[in-house]
Amino acid sequence: MNSFTLTHFPHTWFRKRITPLEDAHLPVTSKALQYGLGFFGGVRGYVGESSSAIHLFRLKDHVARFLQSARILGVSVGYTPEELQDIFVQLTRKNAPTVDTYYRPYAFADSTDISPHYLGNAEYTFALYMLPLGDYISTTEGNAVCVSSWHRVRDNAIPARGKLSGAYTNSALAKQEAVANGFTDAILLTEDGHVAEGTAMNLCMVRAGTLITPPVQDDVLEGITRDTVLTLARDCGIPTVERSIDRTELYVADELFFCGTGAQVAWISHVDRRRIGAGVMGPATKHIREMFFEVVRGKQKKYAHWLTTVQI
Ligand SMILES: Cc1ncc(COP(=O)(O)O)c(C=O)c1O
Repeated sequence: MNSFTLTHFPHTWFRKRITPLEDAHLPVTSKALQYGLGFFGGVRGYVGESSSAIHLFRLKDHVARFLQSARILGVSVGYTPEELQDIFVQLTRKNAPTVDTYYRPYAFADSTDISPHYLGNAEYTFALYMLPLGDYISTTEGNAVCVSSWHRVRDNAIPARGKLSGAYTNSALAKQEAVANGFTDAILLTEDGHVAEGTAMNLCMVRAGTLITPPVQDDVLEGITRDTVLTLARDCGIPTVERSIDRTELYVADELFFCGTGAQVAWISHVDRRRIGAGVMGPATKHIREMFFEVVRGKQKKYAHWLTTVQI
């Protein structure tokens, strides 16, 4: 089941104020569009016990990661981390969502000259919009995925460490190929043949009771859900290791799952048509998945510091 929807909330943050989404336009001459000169984030807001409040998950960390992309590009967005967090809260109050919501912060080169470069210390324009979002890929049924014929972009080409707009052509090529071949998603390898991540999510493997995920040096996004999963695993006594993973280790893994803001915790049943483990959601995945959904909905007080709760 996939409850993906593209109906956006009507208000957006654009050019320093709340404005109707329908008025938030870029000209066709924009070099953000033509060269992918922008960067973005993705944050989820979960409805808790009562629909009069929404919990934004790890907002402070998402904002910090968003600004990390700016540092990689050598640009600024003209707001402090605190101001950006406040814009999320303001827009939430304005749109008043009563369902699980995805937030897309975006900063882009607001210029129409034809050179792809942007002068140092330039300010990118910040925008934020919101849409209702359920599962992006299934979190209940097993996902059958493939190893992509496309490699993950490497750090010295388009750094995967940043959420840089242009780099998502790499994700699009891999996803397109995977879906055309009947898979849900793809796992991309680094140029030296190690496992990197999915098209828009990190990957975790369980072997002999240990949770293993590729290190941040293997051309992956420094995922906030990845960090959440590692923390939850350690806290419940599952040993964790960050190390490179070979392609064929995927085939002999006991459990595999994707994790990301979009993907949440989504288990993988098959890779390249080989069944993973017993072909059911494995015990470690099940445990982490259950904890994850309790944490994001505010049911685990220990992790309440990860939530920014906005009363609607
Ligand atoms: C390429 C890529 N890897 C990993 C992730 C997961 O990161 P996070 O958990 O911070 O959302 C995402 C999506 O956000 C992504 O686009």
